[in-house]
Amino acid sequence: MTVADLPKIELHLHHEGAAPPAFIRQLAHEKRVDLSGIFKSDGSYDFRDFAHFLSVYEAACEVLKSPEDFRRLTLAILQESAANGVVYSETFLSPDFCGGGDVHAWRDYLSAIQDAADEAERAYGITLRGVVTCVRHFGPDQARQTALCAAETAGNWITGFGMGGNEAIGAQADFKWAFDCAREAGLRLTTHAGEFGGPQSVRDAVRDLGVERVGHGVRAIEDPSLVRELVDREVTLEVCPGSNVVLGLFPNFRAHPIAQLRDHGVKVTVSTDDPPFFHTSMRREYKMLAEAFGWDADDFAALNDTALGAAFCDEETRARVKKRLERT
Ligand code: ADE
Ligand code: ZN
Repeated sequence: MTVADLPKIELHLHHEGAAPPAFIRQLAHEKRVDLSGIFKSDGSYDFRDFAHFLSVYEAACEVLKSPEDFRRLTLAILQESAANGVVYSETFLSPDFCGGGDVHAWRDYLSAIQDAADEAERAYGITLRGVVTCVRHFGPDQARQTALCAAETAGNWITGFGMGGNEAIGAQADFKWAFDCAREAGLRLTTHAGEFGGPQSVRDAVRDLGVERVGHGVRAIEDPSLVRELVDREVTLEVCPGSNVVLGLFPNFRAHPIAQLRDHGVKVTVSTDDPPFFHTSMRREYKMLAEAFGWDADDFAALNDTALGAAFCDEETRARVKKRLERT
């Protein structure tokens, strides 16, 4: 057995970003939509840089237009995650892509996604929870609408609220209303920061929005006082090394700061972000980290312990997942 065979927890996965290109092509074929411009000749997604990635991502979403599409997508994602040894996963769901921000439509999409998650749990033994996610470059007004959708459906399954999208646009604090609304509804909070924004973006995320987890956060390494603040506040980073390498933040895994952050005492976890876009999987992330830093089974077990502790689920679910980590 290698470390890639270990059971895994994944906390940072964009639902649409996990759509295999063949799945999107099949939907485009069924709906007679021409999406040929977003694929390379080998069939993979084609993008040049982060801004282009976001626009290819949104183009792919053009064919994800009904609850049934999301039911099929959810089954495909969970089958793939389970095949990678993932036993618990949190997925970012955007009401913007599920009914355009309308609460009634969002409920229908969510119900289809949850049905598929129940089916996948029975079939593959993987547990999924949802984090409603606003899109930063859609702006603060749209984010309020998203937060209202999140608040309406907050509970044991929708357990968190977050923000993705283009970090270069606006400030974290512009989204304070949305995050306060979600917090008041009992949701746990995370936001993308320190991916394309520098350390100040991470500081703003924890201070202005009060998030307990940060998506990426890796550029915190540029500021030792921020690293100390993350340790003191016990903030967990949802680190996605393969995503960062493909998007050009770091030239390769060895140059990635995840090991340094961990050694400074920051709580780090490992996820794939948008696996088919970045030609990765949870098995590959483990394999690459083991090769780059010599991490062994104990290192990965500690990583999963951190992820389990930071998971946005209830205690009964956490205990159940813990047993699954121990048993396998
Ligand atoms: N949406 C999907 N993937 C993302 C990423 N890596 N950063 C920001 N927003 C995203
Ligand atoms: Zn992300």
